[in-house]
Amino acid sequence: MQDNWKIKCLVPDLPSAEDVLPYLKRVDQNRWYSNFGPLVREFEHTMASMFKEASPALAATRAERTNVATFSSATTALELMLRASGLKKPARILTPALTFSATAASIEITGHTPVFCDVDSDNWCLTPEIAKRISEKYQIDAVLPVAIYGYPIELDTWAEFQRDTGIRVFIDAAAALGNQLIHPDIPICFSLHATKPFGIGEGGLLVASDQLVERARNLSNFAFCDGTSREVGTNAKLAEVLAAYGLAQITRFPEVQARRKQVLDQYIALLGEEHFHPLTKDYVPGTLLIDAPGKAAALERALSDARIQTRKWYFPPLNEHIAFQSAEIIRGDDGTLLPHIDDLKNRLIGLPFHAFLTESDLQEIASVVSKVLES
Ligand SMILES: Cc1ncc(COP(=O)(O)O)c(C=O)c1O
Repeated sequence: MQDNWKIKCLVPDLPSAEDVLPYLKRVDQNRWYSNFGPLVREFEHTMASMFKEASPALAATRAERTNVATFSSATTALELMLRASGLKKPARILTPALTFSATAASIEITGHTPVFCDVDSDNWCLTPEIAKRISEKYQIDAVLPVAIYGYPIELDTWAEFQRDTGIRVFIDAAAALGNQLIHPDIPICFSLHATKPFGIGEGGLLVASDQLVERARNLSNFAFCDGTSREVGTNAKLAEVLAAYGLAQITRFPEVQARRKQVLDQYIALLGEEHFHPLTKDYVPGTLLIDAPGKAAALERALSDARIQTRKWYFPPLNEHIAFQSAEIIRGDDGTLLPHIDDLKNRLIGLPFHAFLTESDLQEIASVVSKVLES
């Protein structure tokens, strides 16, 4: 694998040392470095307000009962969300096989059973329709859909699914901060990893009801209660210095998104929107995959020859990972194994997508891509 790429796939866009300094000075002054310090609390409160403002569907009274907790990563947020949910073990949790390994790992590690299924061939996600069909034939206790590549998931239909079936819904929206709305009845996790659109280095968020957030937060601090652990907890707290990055990132996030949008618009102008996920015209994704039926491998080769880095995000799918060999797989209607994911494998390839791509980078990428698409 080469690492002398001329154009890299992902380049983090984090606050500079100068941006973070005023917040770090506050950490110095407080001499408070972990355990829910003032910057962590301020970061959580500000993020909660941002989510509530962006989600008009939240009726005022219910919004007040929706809260945000920070964690050391989205992986620990997912784990503690599932632990705090009180799902009876082992719950059979339906999740798409096309996702990052942390989605299924959070299910396994919390004593539940992942049940892998296919995704919709147009929006690349596990949809309420797919979950409904499967839950009519198989025992499913909860569903963990994924906001694939950072495109948002429509939550009203998932809330309806939850109401109609009584099956709990949890969302892994790791890469979708800035796009994904929240819902008072559906817990959602986001990642703050350096490579995500809202990066701080490492970190995760859980947006959920007050009760779930409080329980997950307590589990992240050894489940301490009056000096003893009331159950087996862990240490998954966000450090105060990372909240300093978070607060600095909040102020520059609109700029970050605007830069990413500009790059996206240039891609669309050069290659045409028909080559991207249908939501690309309305949302800036976390990672940008081009949809080129049958040409993913040829694109990967041609771009690599031009020293342009690509990534095959979420391929191979989780059912092919050694760690998940014992997980159940719900086959396609015709009995084939995950036919849509199999098809997407030959369609999708991750292009360089970050705020530092220049116009000439984009032209170079588009020229290689166009040649392959036309061949
Ligand atoms: C869908 C999905 N879930 C979970 C994670 C894990 O996030 P973190 O690195 O913050 O633990 C990722 C990270 O890429 C992801 O893409």
